[in-house]
Amino acid sequence: MRKNKSSKNWIIQQHRDPYFKEAKHSGFRSRSAYKLLELEKKFKFLKSCKSIIDLGSYPGGWSQVIKKNTKNCKILSLDIKKMREIDGVDFFCCDFQNDGSKEQILQYFKAKADVLVSDMAANTTGNKDLDCIRTNSLCMDVIEFSRFVVKNDGVVISKLFNGYDFLDVKKFAEKKFEKVNFFKPESSKNFSKETYIHCKKFKTL
Ligand SMILES: C[S@@+](CC[C@H](N)C(=O)[O-])C[C@H]1O[C@@H](n2cnc3c(N)ncnc32)[C@H](O)[C@@H]1O
Repeated sequence: MRKNKSSKNWIIQQHRDPYFKEAKHSGFRSRSAYKLLELEKKFKFLKSCKSIIDLGSYPGGWSQVIKKNTKNCKILSLDIKKMREIDGVDFFCCDFQNDGSKEQILQYFKAKADVLVSDMAANTTGNKDLDCIRTNSLCMDVIEFSRFVVKNDGVVISKLFNGYDFLDVKKFAEKKFEKVNFFKPESSKNFSKETYIHCKKFKTL
């Protein structure tokens, strides 16, 4: 009964949300598409990008934005959930942490990629602090993973939460990259601790 009420409220809120309406109107598969558009406006990583990995791509809003904002770019999207086809976007249905996924990605691009973006969050448990810790740990896994599949002067963008372990992620990223910035798009809901990390150029050891 409670669950029904909260899911009804969620549906009402969604329909009042301007980004949700705009995404429907523009044919984007998710309101998240606007977050990537804002990230692009801020950091400008898509224009000259020739190879990009979209981790956690389902249902495909970010992949649509990437396709629209790049030219002659190899786009590889990856998710545990099967994503409906997008013209000009290749898709691997798998967990990025599976054995062999790095090799599959490298084989696909025949080299490392220019950019990796990740909008992944850990599955919610109902406990906000735990969700935050788990998503920030996933963000660190993405940063670690990126070293194997992104070029030395490449760009990595990942979702994280501005809560528990945020400073640990920041320190971890600053050890690996020359430049580390954070940005919360306006389209990211105010009440959410969600934000994005933008990392550029791996430090040479
Ligand atoms: C918020 S959604 C992404 C929305 C997407 N950016 C868009 O605009 O349509 C996060 C996605 O991350 C995926 N995900 C979470 N953990 C993953 C993992 N370990 N490997 C691959 N995908 C994962 C989930 O299945 C989910 O579809």
